[in-house]
Amino acid sequence: MGKTETSGMPKTFTFDKSYFSPAAYELESSVIRDILKYSSQPGVISFAGGLPAPESFPIEELKAVADRVLVQYGTLALQYGLSRGYGPLREFLADRAGIRGGEGITADNIIVTGGSQQGLDIVGRSFLEPGRYVLCCRPTYVGALQAFNFYRARYATVEIDDEGMKVDEAEAQIKKYNPAFIYVVPNFQNPAGVTLSEPRRHKLIELAYKYRLPIIDDNPYGELRYSGTDQPSLKRLGGDIVIQLGTFSKIISPGLRIGWTVAAKEVTDVFERVKQSTDLHTNQFAQYLVHEYVAGGALDPHIATLIVNYREQRDTMLATMAEFFPDTVRWTRPEGGLFLWIVLPEQIKAKELFFKAIEEKVAFVPGKAFDPLGIMENTMRLNFSNASCAMIREGIKRLGRVFADM
Ligand SMILES: Cc1ncc(COP(=O)(O)O)c(C=O)c1O
Repeated sequence: MGKTETSGMPKTFTFDKSYFSPAAYELESSVIRDILKYSSQPGVISFAGGLPAPESFPIEELKAVADRVLVQYGTLALQYGLSRGYGPLREFLADRAGIRGGEGITADNIIVTGGSQQGLDIVGRSFLEPGRYVLCCRPTYVGALQAFNFYRARYATVEIDDEGMKVDEAEAQIKKYNPAFIYVVPNFQNPAGVTLSEPRRHKLIELAYKYRLPIIDDNPYGELRYSGTDQPSLKRLGGDIVIQLGTFSKIISPGLRIGWTVAAKEVTDVFERVKQSTDLHTNQFAQYLVHEYVAGGALDPHIATLIVNYREQRDTMLATMAEFFPDTVRWTRPEGGLFLWIVLPEQIKAKELFFKAIEEKVAFVPGKAFDPLGIMENTMRLNFSNASCAMIREGIKRLGRVFADM
């Protein structure tokens, strides 16, 4: 080929701030991802991420299932699909949501999403406008804050205690801020591990109907209960006003990126169009893979194994904390999920302890990231699913030393 007219032109160019939408440019990177560069250093015991135990991934089963999918459904599984998702998977989810989530749910109420993180984005796109408030817990899941921040949300916050959101404090916030919706992780909340008690569930739903506010029931951990008794699902108690987000991330694998929304028909119709405008549809092959895996009955036994293992990890962490942490430190005792929450004496900044902890080769997430108001400096989140019991014991002993010096 001969020389083109552009061959002598400079090929370097810098995209400065003026090129980007303010929403994109000002979005903060996830603190947890930033922390990964420390927590992934060799020898560091990390309680920082929210990763499921890698040894729990059903690799052999999925290998066989992938093979079956390609042989039996290859041309369909590799083709474009429906924005709502693969029909048989939606049927399966509707049946399961019917048992665990709410009555009268059919495949028409389900959309398969790219993880529940996409569910959060779809909620933001569908309900938020710049400056609109979201009513949520303090602390709350940082990924929800990131998703809603993109739509320039503001936060009307309600504190938590061992029974989850202090719902009695919610009404005043609703009156003051007129939020677009209520966002809650009712079961084994990320980050604090607390569960919304049954009386508070009823109260929250009363409030939702009184003020005609949708509840976003973000429920990735509901099936991972290690002790205590199941609470009735918000979706079941609240019916149409509740939009539930689910995911296979914590009960099969997060890398597959398969989640779902359960919502009233008219909400699902809007979500479908919003989803279509974003990515056309969720990864078709992954949907077939997950469906083939769950339809064969593998999910419940798999969850039962996860529960046994994660219970032991949780118990190890709690017992070691009781042994090695000073009396001035308080923490939650989660009945399920992957996390617990530590409150340090008021004057202590978890961010400063973080670097001391890294010197001791142990990592956690400072709690400030989970505070919609960006304060809560004397808090931290610990994850117990991604380290063996021996590592948990060692890591907690190291943290105990860091606390003792504080
Ligand atoms: C409360 C909550 N919601 C949503 C998500 C996103 O999960 P995924 O997109 O992997 O389904 C997480 C992940 O940790 C979470 O803790």
